[in-house]
Amino acid sequence: MKSPWPQDTIARRFALTIMAAVTVAATLSALAVSFAGSWLSSPANEAGLFQAVTSISHAIDVAPPEMRPTLARAASTKLYEVDWYDAASPLAVALDRESGPEDIHPLPSPWLEALGRRALVFTATAADAGRLGLRADVGTHPRPRFLGVPLRDGSWLVYMARDWSRDLVRLSRVAITLVLLLLSAAAVSLIAARQLSRPIERIAAAARQFGTDPKAPPIIESGPRELRGVIQAFNDMQGQIQKFVGYRTAMLAAISHDLRTPLTRMRLRGEFVEDPVQQARLFRDVDEMQAMVDGALAFFRDDADEEAVTAFDLAGLLTTIADEFADQGITIPYTGPPHAVYRGRPFALKRAFTNLIENAIRHATPPTVTLEEVPAHNGAAQDARGMLAITVRDDGPGIPDDALDQVFSPFFRLDRSRNRVTGGVGLGLTAALAIIRAHGGDIILSNRPGGGLDARVTLPVT
Ligand SMILES: Nc1ncnc2c1ncn2[C@@H]1O[C@H](COP(=O)(O)OP(=O)(O)O)[C@@H](O)[C@H]1O
Ligand SMILES: [Mg+2]
Repeated sequence: MKSPWPQDTIARRFALTIMAAVTVAATLSALAVSFAGSWLSSPANEAGLFQAVTSISHAIDVAPPEMRPTLARAASTKLYEVDWYDAASPLAVALDRESGPEDIHPLPSPWLEALGRRALVFTATAADAGRLGLRADVGTHPRPRFLGVPLRDGSWLVYMARDWSRDLVRLSRVAITLVLLLLSAAAVSLIAARQLSRPIERIAAAARQFGTDPKAPPIIESGPRELRGVIQAFNDMQGQIQKFVGYRTAMLAAISHDLRTPLTRMRLRGEFVEDPVQQARLFRDVDEMQAMVDGALAFFRDDADEEAVTAFDLAGLLTTIADEFADQGITIPYTGPPHAVYRGRPFALKRAFTNLIENAIRHATPPTVTLEEVPAHNGAAQDARGMLAITVRDDGPGIPDDALDQVFSPFFRLDRSRNRVTGGVGLGLTAALAIIRAHGGDIILSNRPGGGLDARVTLPVT
C-alpha cells in the first residue's frame, strides 16, 4: 500500500527542516514576547498612549487658560511629560505654521481619529528648543520626539515621551528576534543535518570495512530514498565482487585439484623411464609440481575458510607463536606491550605471522618480533584510526632491492636450489600478504643498512 505521505527523501528532509526551524523560531519569539512582556511588545500598543493624549487634550481644552499649565503638569506621567504653550508663544506660532522644529510632520491618520484634530510629531535640537522656548530637557536625550496638539484657542499642548530608549528598544527587539530565529534555526538544522549525515557516515564506514574485509556483510538499508539507493547500489556491487572473487577462487582450486590426477599418472609412467638420470629429474619435477599444487590447494582452502572476526589479544597470539618455536628449540624474543586487543581473524593472522617467522628461520636467522601501538593521526578522517605495527626482524642476507615486491608473487623464490632444501614453494609471503590485506593492512619488506630483513606489518585498528 502506498503511504499518503511523500517518501522519505532528502528534499523532504530539507523542507521539514526549514518548516521545523520556522515553527520553533516563531514559537520562541511568541514565548519571549509573552515572558518579556511590554518591553518586547510592538509600538502598536502605544495606542494606550494616544488614548491618554486624546483625553488629556480634550480635558485641558475646556479648562480655563490659567489652570492649563497646572493641569498639564498634573497630567504628566512617567511615560510622558505634558506642557502647555499659549497661542502667542514662539513655539505655538511655529507649530501653527508647521515649520520650525526639525522633522515636523502630521501624526499618521490612525491615531488622529479619536483625537478629532490634527496633531504634529516633531523632534528638536537644543538650538530649536532655545529659539522656540521649548521647555524640555533636550540635552539629556539625543533625539527627543514630541507630539503637538492644538487647542481651540490656538494654544498648544506638547507631549514629550520620556522613554527615549524606544528607538533602542525597537532595535533590540529586532536583534533579539533575529538572534532567537538564528539560534533556533541553527539548532533545528544541526539536528537535521546530523540525521542526514549519519547514514552517509555509515555508508563511508561500510565502504571502508569492505576495503579491509572483503567478506563484510551488506549495509542495512535505511535513511532517505536517495541514500537507500546508494546503499542498494553499494550492496549490489559488493555482492557482485564477492561472487566474482568466489568464482575465480573456485575455478583456480578446481584446476589445482584436477592437476593432481595427471601428476600421479606422470609419476607412475616415470617408473618406466630407462635412463636413471632422466628419471631422477622427472621425479624431482613431478614432486615439485605436486608440492606446488598442494600448496595452492592449501592456499585456496585457507582463503575459503570463513573465519569469523573476533576481538582477541594480538600480543598473546605473537607470544604463542614464539612459544611454539621455543618447543623446537628456537628462541624468538618478543618486545612490546603484554596485551594488545585487536579485531580480526586470529587463525589467519597466526598463519601470516608464522609464515614471516618461518621465512626468517629458513632463509635467514631466528627473528625478533616487535609490536607497537601507533596512535591515530589528527588528520583526515580515514587516518583517524590508530594501528598496530608488528616488525619481524632477522639478521640474514636480506632480499635484493629489485626483488622486494616480487617475493610476494605466487611461487616466486629467490634461490631455487637453496629453497629446494628448505622446501617452500613460494606461497608463504603471498598467503601472508593476502591475509594482512584482508585486514586492511600491509606488509613492507626492507633491508636494513647493517644487513638483515625487516618485515613490517601494519594493521589498522577499526
Ligand atoms: N627473511 C628472509 N630473508 C631472506 N629472504 C627471504 C626472507 N623471507 C623470504 N625470503 C625470500 O622470499 C622468497 C619468497 O618467500 P615465501 O613466499 O615465503 O616462499 P618460500 O616458500 O620459499 O618460503 C623466499 O623463497 C626467499 O627467497
Ligand atoms: Mg616461506
